[in-house]
Amino acid sequence: MTITTVGTSAADIEHHYDLGNDFYALWLDETLAYTAAKWDGIPREEPDATALPRAQRAKLDHHLDLVGARPGDRLRLLDVGCGWGAMLAHAGRDGQGGRDGRVAEAVGLTISPAQHAFLTARALPGVEPRLESWEDHRPDRPYDAVVAMGAFEHFATAGMTRAERLGGYARYFEACHRWLRPGGRTSLQTIAYDGVADGSGPVGEFVGSDIFPSARLPRLSEIAAACDPYFSVVALTASAEDYARTLACWSARLLRAREAAERLVGPEGYRRYRRYLRASEVTFLRGAATLYRIGFRRRDEPLRLPV
Ligand SMILES: C[S@@+](CC[C@H](N)C(=O)[O-])C[C@H]1O[C@@H](n2cnc3c(N)ncnc32)[C@H](O)[C@@H]1O
Repeated sequence: MTITTVGTSAADIEHHYDLGNDFYALWLDETLAYTAAKWDGIPREEPDATALPRAQRAKLDHHLDLVGARPGDRLRLLDVGCGWGAMLAHAGRDGQGGRDGRVAEAVGLTISPAQHAFLTARALPGVEPRLESWEDHRPDRPYDAVVAMGAFEHFATAGMTRAERLGGYARYFEACHRWLRPGGRTSLQTIAYDGVADGSGPVGEFVGSDIFPSARLPRLSEIAAACDPYFSVVALTASAEDYARTLACWSARLLRAREAAERLVGPEGYRRYRRYLRASEVTFLRGAATLYRIGFRRRDEPLRLPV
């Protein structure tokens, strides 16, 4: 089976996620969300055992709000880069005839075989997990909404020129436009460079080479240029703090689970992840990178913009 990606290759994704679902489950929370949580109003003194899942669910609800999914709407949703199914489980939890169901059916795309196997075994009602890149996705019916959290970071690689990155990002928004019904909405949560021009420097090199080989983050100006023909931006927030706090939480949880983690991935694997989580936290605290959450409304007809 071929997986098409202009960005992070399927082999590099496998390198990251195939450390094993059990390893990630040790330090993520019960939702298994592997992207920044949303911490507004959650007190610092609340223990992470309750605070982290609460903040993760607040993030998932925020994305459902961004795509206009209200209780009872029973939408058809696409989750691009669905991970272990945090959104798929959350959105549809009351979906099967329940009063509060915002989503009745959902498709989740991942290019990690380990995640796909996990989701298939999870057998969430109304959910179709697919081992497929967004570039190969050809749905037989339109979606009402598309969400993508933590996947856009993989849609370009370090060796690309700005023009190549913009081309790849524009193809993504063009695909979202094609997948959505008229008036449909999409949301994006992505890390982006902020106070530095690119990922050069020790932190970027470590995360890029050791953890996500050849990763290349976007800048806001690139996202804006790529989406403009297809979507109108309806909401945008930036919060480096949300990622820094999430990473601090994951780091503390991994520290507490050290013995079990070393059994699963060995002492070197454990150390590498502790360093990666800490280095990433520092990247956000220093303002080198930030986190955007963006809501978009589909334009009826793509705009032809002057070049
Ligand atoms: C950091 S995880 C985020 C998972 C999930 N959205 C969450 O919030 O927990 C990134 C996800 O993006 C997926 N991904 C990366 N490149 C992709 C591509 N070209 N097409 C579809 N999914 C992709 C990975 O397989 C993985 O599931």
